[in-house]
Amino acid sequence: DWTMAHFRADAIKKIRDQVGDKKVICGLSGGVDSSVTAVLIHEAIGEQLTCIYVDSGLMRLNESEQVVSLFREHYNIPLVHVDASEIFITALEGQSDPERKRKIIGGLFIDVFEDEAESIGGADFLAQGTLYPDVIESVSFTGGPSVTIKSHHNVGGLPERMNMELVEPLRELFKDEVRALGRELGLPSDFVGRHPFPGPGLAIRCPGGISREKLDILRQADAIYLDEIRKAGLYDVIWQAFAVLLPVQTVGVMGDGRTYESVCALRAVTSVDGMTADFYHFDMNFLSKAATRIINEVKGINRVVYDVTSKPPGTIEWE
Ligand code: XMP
Repeated sequence: DWTMAHFRADAIKKIRDQVGDKKVICGLSGGVDSSVTAVLIHEAIGEQLTCIYVDSGLMRLNESEQVVSLFREHYNIPLVHVDASEIFITALEGQSDPERKRKIIGGLFIDVFEDEAESIGGADFLAQGTLYPDVIESVSFTGGPSVTIKSHHNVGGLPERMNMELVEPLRELFKDEVRALGRELGLPSDFVGRHPFPGPGLAIRCPGGISREKLDILRQADAIYLDEIRKAGLYDVIWQAFAVLLPVQTVGVMGDGRTYESVCALRAVTSVDGMTADFYHFDMNFLSKAATRIINEVKGINRVVYDVTSKPPGTIEWE
């Protein structure tokens, strides 16, 4: 792809100009954006880059292992793996306001990055996989209504006190362009095709406040749903699919007994850039199968609903 080969060369030059001989820290989230950012910056400045994978406790099932192995084994890019789950989960306990949750998470990521920067003798730059849509949805449009829809944690969620300068080589790109760049950089195709995953992770898929127990339930439901989507050959036609664990319990019946457990909502959308989206029109047989498996296999969920809201008026994530 000529365009991306050109972009790559240009971006590498810009990164070198910005960074000089200083050190850069790059947080990996497991998503395509941060991975492409890391590989690009590594190509530009090699060992001046330290990649950090923060396990926030808000990741999907087996996600940490997958990211760590991709970087250490496939790329041979050194990676610091920080387990910060206790800190994140404790800080989020009792917090149910979506923007507050986002701010707390954004702040904690910065704390961890700053600690790590210190432990490598200081770093002047923090690299992030911010994309163009993240920028426009977080800042108010010039001349438009002054309203923030969500503080994407890698944009509006950063605290003022942060003393590192940002390196954001993907800031002008849309998701499809980042994927093209990822292919250009040789990232494995299943990795490049991964559904987007938000920086604040599963915390914003547990409306009403999180706990370790809720996160575990959500992780299981999400994994089953995605497994069914892959088996049905639908993963690549869907922009993003995930489960949401609602803070609502309902009555059910299992065998001879009464149950009183949580409701799980399933979401799937098609989209080109995440700015607008249509809910995915599943075959009812598919939904029935996924719901039955979730209710049978996940202790703590006894009802499944499907979200039929497009964007607008809904957003893709629930918070
Ligand atoms: P919404 O929910 O605003 O999401 O319709 C649009 C796209 O952005 C993702 N998203 C985020 N990505 N940090 C990210 O890196 C965030 O804080 C964040 N919030 C939402 C969302 O998953 C969807 O793909």
